[in-house]
Amino acid sequence: MPDFLDTSTCRTGSRRWTGCPTADYHPARVPTPIVRFGPALNDYRQDDGRLDAARHWRDAEAARAAWQRAGMRPDPIAVSLARIGSAWGAAVTTATIGGRAVFGGTLREINAGALVHYDDINREFPTGLFDQEIVAQLAFNVWVTVPATGGATTVWRHRWEPADERHREAYGYRPETVEHSQHISLAPELGDGLLFNPANFHAVEPNPTGRRIAFAFFLGLTTTGQLIAWS
Ligand SMILES: [Fe+2]
Repeated sequence: MPDFLDTSTCRTGSRRWTGCPTADYHPARVPTPIVRFGPALNDYRQDDGRLDAARHWRDAEAARAAWQRAGMRPDPIAVSLARIGSAWGAAVTTATIGGRAVFGGTLREINAGALVHYDDINREFPTGLFDQEIVAQLAFNVWVTVPATGGATTVWRHRWEPADERHREAYGYRPETVEHSQHISLAPELGDGLLFNPANFHAVEPNPTGRRIAFAFFLGLTTTGQLIAWS
C-alpha cells in the first residue's frame, strides 16, 4: 500500500520512539540482530508451548507506559489500525487473554536482515492463547525510516511442510527451502504499508547503510468475522 502513512506521521514515529527502551532478540538464537520496542508474544513462549504470562504482562505494561510517555501524536499504530478498520468495515480491536488486552504493536529496526521464516500464532501456541479464535493471520508493516538501498522484504509462495525441517537454521530456514518457489520482493519506501500472509515464508535482506525501521503488528480474523491485532 503506497503512502499508507504520510511523511509527517512517519517522522513523528521514528523520532519519538528513540526514547523508548528497546530490546535485542536473544543473540544465541538470532544470528541477525533485530532491535525492537514492544514485546512480541512469541518471545514469551515456553517449551511446553504456553505463554510465560507473568513475564509477558510485566513487559507489556512497561511497554504501554513507555509508549504513552513517548507521546506519539499521531500514533502510527493507532492510525494504521484505524485505516485498516475502516477498510474492513469494523474497528480492529486488540487481542485479549483472559479479558486482558495484549500489547498491540511493535517498532522494529532490522538492518542486518531477517532469516527465511514464517509466523503462525496457532502453531506457536498450539493450545490456544487468545480469548478469540483465529482462522487466518496477516502481518502488517509500515516503514517510517528507510535505507537508500537494500532492506527488501521477500515473500515466497511456500508454506511450511515437513521437508523444510531439513533446512532449519536458528529461528528460520536456509534459503534452499524456498529456492524453487515463486516470490515477490518489495524494497521499503517511506510510509508504505505491507499486509501479507505470514504463513508464507518471508525474509528481509540486509541494508548496507542507513536504517530500516517499521511499525509492525499481526492481525487475526476471528470466527465471528472481527479483526484483532497483537504483536
Ligand atoms: Fe515474520
